[in-house]
Amino acid sequence: MTVAPSLLAANFLRLEQECIMLNESQADWFHLDVMDGVFVPNISFGFPIIKQVRQTTKKICDVHLMIVEPEKYAEQFKNAGADILTVHIEACRHLHRNIQQIKGLGMMAGVAVNPHTPVNLLKDILADIDLVCLMSVNPGFGGQSFIPYSIEKIKQLRKMIDDAGLKVKIEVDGGITLQNAKQIAEAGANVLVAGNTIFSSKDPKATIKKLKAT
Ligand code: DX5
Ligand code: ZN
Repeated sequence: MTVAPSLLAANFLRLEQECIMLNESQADWFHLDVMDGVFVPNISFGFPIIKQVRQTTKKICDVHLMIVEPEKYAEQFKNAGADILTVHIEACRHLHRNIQQIKGLGMMAGVAVNPHTPVNLLKDILADIDLVCLMSVNPGFGGQSFIPYSIEKIKQLRKMIDDAGLKVKIEVDGGITLQNAKQIAEAGANVLVAGNTIFSSKDPKATIKKLKAT
């Protein structure tokens, strides 16, 4: 299982220590949530934070864009240090073009889908992407509850990927806990994003280890 702690739940006053903690942990990726206040009803952080986080780690920086017109900023996210750039299907008028741009810049490309978006809309783009970020909460905030129907969507997506003989990763994002992680893994996910479950726990490294062993 790949574990991707979401820095959104980190303490930004001690961001360097949080990054060091993650470096020492079994976390695989750093999940960085960028929000624009337009696509989602919240604003998080942008290039300066990502650049500084990048300097603290050699782990994969997995940047989840919750923004409109991501094509305007793809190159800047590459320069800030993104290894994976994920855009929302609901925010892209020309998704195929967005994906080609991301890959052309040398990043892995992901597509995120909101809870209301059927996974079968991904059918024709699956072969072009590295990852699907399946949102199991409505994007915009950490600390929300996992939407149960997401399990069904993970299973459908797993079948689509396997039937097509592809290696696209299924990343599940939102409301993941130590209690529901196993069910999510069994449904077919291979990347778990977790914010509050990790950063609000007494021992974040131990929590990461447990998620990793899911
Ligand atoms: C939500 C973000 C998530 C969020 C997850 O819009 O995409 O990555 O940080 O936070 P938790 O794990 O607390 O639900
Ligand atoms: Zn996210």
